[in-house]
Order: sequence, then structure tokens, then C-alpha cells
Amino acid sequence: LNNGLALTPPMGWLTWQRFMCTTDCRKYPQECISENLIKRTADLMVREGYLSAGYNYVAIDDCWLEKKRGHDGRMVPDRERFPSGMKALSDYIHERGLKFGIYQDGGKLTCAGYPGVLGHEKLDIETFVKWEVDYLKLDGCYIEPKDMETVYTKFGNMLNKTGRPIVYSCSWPAYQEFVKTGPNYPAIAKHCNLWRNWGDIGDSWATMTKIMNWFGDHQDKIAKHAGPGHWNDPDMLLIGNFGLSVDQARVQMAVWSILAAPLLMSVDLATIKPEFKEILLNRDIIAVNQDKLGKQGLRIWKKKDSGPRQGLEIWKRKLSDGSYAMAFVSYRVDGMPYTAKFTFKEMQLANRSFYVQDLYKEESVKLLQANHEFEVKINPSGVKFYKFIPKK
Ligand code: GLA
Repeated sequence: LNNGLALTPPMGWLTWQRFMCTTDCRKYPQECISENLIKRTADLMVREGYLSAGYNYVAIDDCWLEKKRGHDGRMVPDRERFPSGMKALSDYIHERGLKFGIYQDGGKLTCAGYPGVLGHEKLDIETFVKWEVDYLKLDGCYIEPKDMETVYTKFGNMLNKTGRPIVYSCSWPAYQEFVKTGPNYPAIAKHCNLWRNWGDIGDSWATMTKIMNWFGDHQDKIAKHAGPGHWNDPDMLLIGNFGLSVDQARVQMAVWSILAAPLLMSVDLATIKPEFKEILLNRDIIAVNQDKLGKQGLRIWKKKDSGPRQGLEIWKRKLSDGSYAMAFVSYRVDGMPYTAKFTFKEMQLANRSFYVQDLYKEESVKLLQANHEFEVKINPSGVKFYKFIPKK
């Protein structure tokens, strides 16, 4: 969507994956979807360096509404969990230099069963503008997949006409991919800043790699539609939660950066362990994700059959300075760190020498001579993530 926004993939924080639809604040005071959670997160994003690293959107996903609209037809934020109202919360976020994101659904209900925008589009957009919303995720529950193009383009055009810059996150292709009709990706890229292509991520290596596989298997169809202002979205970062080891978390950060994916954390920033925080704040990797060329990378090598390099993949992205980011991923979940060799042909590199820089900074920079094999040692369900810089 050419609205001047999301010229690099959006970065921020979103409630859903970690906090889901937790509404009982008595039982779960630290985890319920509430203004306390959002304010606490906003403070931590500033204080702990996430904002200065580029994470600037703080976004509420589903379950912020009352079950019924007001008598005037307006959306009512849950009175117990958002007692100060959304404008006050938005001010709180803006005062800290952050941006405010929110969730709605194009159908009659949201996915968790709260009132959706259907039939109230004009009033709801007015309300979002009044609340100074900067980012809107519009979900697609209770919309017929065949009607998505109409619903999303109509709502997007109305949003655009308000004149307020609002990042528009669409779930349109995710539902259509599911029923295998469409999606019309050129239209999606024209009308949305980012779009969920596929199923929800869960807090596990299994779900995460399923998504990676889907993105690799469908890259010929989707990668070309990504670019400044319009991005494919493989869903939130799991980093810092319960399901991924440190090595597995490094895989997600590497592959999401190659994919030019939105970097939306979904984690409790008050309790995140330092080794996960370090992954999220890795500036060299964020720079890969945010590279201004905006070209989505590809899975360029994959060993399907059994054999010495079984379970390994190479993901590669071209960067604006002429270098390449390359992630060597291992799907092996047992054994020990594993050594493999790759040729220039397999890495799809031109016949010249490269400096190779380890983006996780465990190895020192090395010189790879033209056409020599490159040896890499990868941890089980882990990654080596390098920048290949052509030698002048
Ligand atoms: C859908 C979306 C999720 C989340 C939930 C909220 O499942 O794909 O990302 O927004 O709805 O109910």
C-alpha cells in the first residue's frame, strides 16, 4: 500500500501470541489484556532499548472490547480492563515516542467473539482516528473468503481517506490460502501494508518450522509481492516465551529477517531472559530485516532425501550494499553441532572472494576465497547466520 508507511517491515509488539484472550485480571493480573499490560510494555520498550533498536509499535490484538456496542453504536473498550479509555492509552504511548496499534475484524464478530466492524465501518474508522491509532490489524473471521477482496479494499480505502497515516495489516490471504481460493496478491499488495499469508503461529518449534516450510514452498508465488510499503507476514516472534530454545529463537530471528517479515514481538518484556532479549536487540540482524532494498529473501537450498546434509537449509537475502545475508538452518533436533560444506554453486554466489561475518558474533570475520567450499558448523535445531560481503 502506497501510503508512505512501512517502507521497511513494521517492528513492534503485539499481545496475541503470548497473552491471547486473557480477560481475568483478578486471576492473571500481569497477563490480562488491559491498559496496565500495555503501559508496562510501553515503559519497558523505552527503558530496555527496544524502541531505540526500532521496535516502535505497541499493539493490542483481540479481546479489548466490551461484548456489546454502546447505545450510540460505538465500540466500547472493556470498562474494567481499560478504565481510562483508549484515547488516554494512546496518549500514554505517544508521549513515550511509540506508536499505537489496535485490532478489529471485518466481519460481524472478531475471532474471539467480540463485536466486529461489519455495518459500523464509518463510525469505527472515525473512532480509531479520534483515538489516534497508528496501526490497525483487520482480521477476517466471519467473512466469506470469496468476499475478502471487497471487504478489505473497501475498508482500506475508507481508512486511507481519513488522512491519518495508519498502517493497514490484513489477514485477507491467510483465509483464502486456507480454502485454496485466490489470493489476488497484486491487489493485496496494493491495498495493505502487510498481510498474514497463513495460519497462526504457536509457541513451538513444530509450528514455527511449519510456517517456515510454507513460506519456502510458496516463495515463488509470494516473495515478489514484498517490498517497501507492502510485506508478507509469517506472524509474530515467539522469542522469549516457553516453546523455543535459545538456538531455535535464533533461527526465527534469522529467517524472519531474511523474509523481510514484520518483527512483532509477543512476549512479557518484564520477565524476558537476557539471552532472548539479546537476540531481539541484535542490531546487525535488525539491519538485515530493515534493509532498504526491501527484497524478500528465499530458501535457496534444501536437502530432501536422507544423506550427510539431511535436514539442512540455506536461506538467502540480497541487501542494498551488494552483500548477502545467509542463514544455514538445521532441522535436526538431536545429536551434536553438525559440520557441513557448501559449494559456491549451492550458495548461488558469483565466483569471487567474500568476507564472511557471523551476525551472532561467535566467530570472527573470515575470508572465503573464490570458489572454495564453505564449511559451517550448526547446532541442533539451530542456525549460523552470516553476511557475505564481496571483497573489493
Ligand atoms: C486470529 C488471528 C490471530 C489473532 C486471533 C485473535 O486467529 O489469526 O493472529 O488475531 O484471531 O482472536
